[in-house]
Amino acid sequence: MDMAGKTVLITGSTDGVGRYVATQLAISGAKVLIHGRDNARAQTLSDEIKRAGGAAPAFYQADLSSLESVRQLADAVIADHKRIDFFVSNAGIGSQNGGPGRRTSADGYELRFAVNYLAGFLLAYRLLPLLKASAPSRIVNVASLGQHPIDFDDVMIVRGYNGSRAYAQSKLSQIMFTIDLAEELKGSNVTVNSLHPATYMNTTMVRAGGITPISTVEQGGAAILHLVTGDDMAGRSGLFFNGMQEAKANPQAYDAAARRRLRTLSRELTGLPAA
Ligand SMILES: NC(=O)c1ccc[n+]([C@@H]2O[C@H](COP(=O)([O-])OP(=O)(O)OC[C@H]3O[C@@H](n4cnc5c(N)ncnc54)[C@H](OP(=O)(O)O)[C@@H]3O)[C@@H](O)[C@H]2O)c1
Repeated sequence: MDMAGKTVLITGSTDGVGRYVATQLAISGAKVLIHGRDNARAQTLSDEIKRAGGAAPAFYQADLSSLESVRQLADAVIADHKRIDFFVSNAGIGSQNGGPGRRTSADGYELRFAVNYLAGFLLAYRLLPLLKASAPSRIVNVASLGQHPIDFDDVMIVRGYNGSRAYAQSKLSQIMFTIDLAEELKGSNVTVNSLHPATYMNTTMVRAGGITPISTVEQGGAAILHLVTGDDMAGRSGLFFNGMQEAKANPQAYDAAARRRLRTLSRELTGLPAA
């Protein structure tokens, strides 16, 4: 796909695979909106992109563990840009970042669920009018093969917490949301897909988990770039990919009642009106 004139927002792009994807998209001629928490890291990336021949990216600073920050991020992007062609929801916290204990977001929700899932959910809905106005446009949710079914009696994992389960629950939530949103967006020319980029890439979250990396950000980045720019992805929506291959997610993803429950809960938790 010719990326000249296209605008891409990618969350969590001052580190890891998001950083790689942002750089590649900028080099290919897209206007890239990078997001992260740290100004200095954003400046370093911006300099690198310019040296590599891309246009200077616009930087948006927001801590996605606060829904108010998520709303402000969406408002700032909407105020600054007339179009968004691609939204890549990539920011995430691993199973062990910040230690093995249970933590909560600024809004009091389990932290992985809040940062990895609820923030992207709310951001997608806030950006939808702009994405629809820019159609054909695409949303890509960077999820994982690490998936744990949601226990709707304990979504915030108050009982028996462990980081792996929390991470995997948040990742399956992203995939369930992808399927649901694709149905909602039928006929709009806005597609939404999710993926597992690659297994144990050499990134901060993998190193924080004490895991020896077995793949590179280039491998995972190629899989994300395929969903963003691949001509073969035109019009395809609601799918889950393992790297470059379409794949099946955890069975709960295909349970329409579970998805409806998650949708209702997510709208409540993020303050969106009931659908
Ligand atoms: N690494 C793997 O092997 C692997 C496998 C499957 C899926 N994934 C998924 O790939 C995505 C990217 O992960 P990565 O491996 O590249 O990890 P990473 O290097 O740790 O990068 C994570 C990014 O998310 C951002 N982030 C984390 N918490 C945030 C918060 N509270 N508010 C705002 N931004 C926040 C970070 O921002 P800062 O730059 O400000 O820290 C960073 O840019 C994640 O969704 C992850 O679940 C990764």
